[in-house]
Amino acid sequence: MHDKYGRAIKSFRISITPDCNLKCFYCHREGHGCGKETLMKPDELGKIVHSALDFGVRKIKISGGEPLLRTDIVEIIKNIVDEQIVDISMTTNGILLEKYAEDLKKAGLDRVNVSLDTLDPEQYKEITAGGNVDKVLKGIKKAIEVGLTPLKVNYLAMKCNLDQLPKIMDYCSEIGAILQVIEFIPMEEELKEQHVDVNKIEEEIAKDAVDVITRKFMQNRKKYILKNGLEVEFVKPMDNTEFCGHCTRIRLTYDGQLKPCLLRDDNLVDVLTPIRNGETDVKKYFVECINNREPFCK
Ligand code: 5AD
Repeated sequence: MHDKYGRAIKSFRISITPDCNLKCFYCHREGHGCGKETLMKPDELGKIVHSALDFGVRKIKISGGEPLLRTDIVEIIKNIVDEQIVDISMTTNGILLEKYAEDLKKAGLDRVNVSLDTLDPEQYKEITAGGNVDKVLKGIKKAIEVGLTPLKVNYLAMKCNLDQLPKIMDYCSEIGAILQVIEFIPMEEELKEQHVDVNKIEEEIAKDAVDVITRKFMQNRKKYILKNGLEVEFVKPMDNTEFCGHCTRIRLTYDGQLKPCLLRDDNLVDVLTPIRNGETDVKKYFVECINNREPFCK
């Protein structure tokens, strides 16, 4: 199905918990706890995802909070897996990844994106309020070993960690990870000073690229291939023409609300309550959500 602006719906991003075991100073997620009853159970998630397939969804991304805080995460993946889905990935901070990587792969998870803004243990602690970067590196190593690949490293470009970029690039090329440079969205006035112009970084990297691939179905994002084989992608959520114009995603909040746009919270559609009330066909909630999509959100 296409929305009113002709955009097809191809991917479904699902938050499975608001909780996180880190507290990054910049995070746009709320990270507050919630009652266990609020969270979608593995079988409920399975039902919602299977309904989404009818609308053309073929890619699933699991996120949070930190998704690996769900002790039933393996069960969740098993319930989501379906022949029609071409890609199931997860965004994680990697702290618990070493423990779960193998079981997740066996359950049907294809790959992971791991947030890593710095390789410096002290700076990692500062950014995340006490996190241990060593655990993340061990998690990444294990994930690659078990084949949760291509693994992407999410690097959020900010003033405070800009000097880490060359080190992270070397690290990614060594381990064979794809690097995603993400534009920082300042959520509060005082964080604005951390914003850096990702276009400038992109220009610099473009100069060294031996190949550039434009990903037509990924918001026209460019992927740069460097001499050492490293692949670098850029995500610019503040750039509405790219981000919204080519958006093919719908989202699901941890408490079961379909969310038409990342940057808006005022047009959600509850799909979990109908399922809990025994409704077997929840297609109409998807239709409502897709009709709520707007071309530009702030
Ligand atoms: N701006 C941009 N990206 C953010 N993320 C979290 N907070 C922000 C923000 N303020 C992204 C991080 C992380 C992913 C889970 O969400 O890049 O990798």
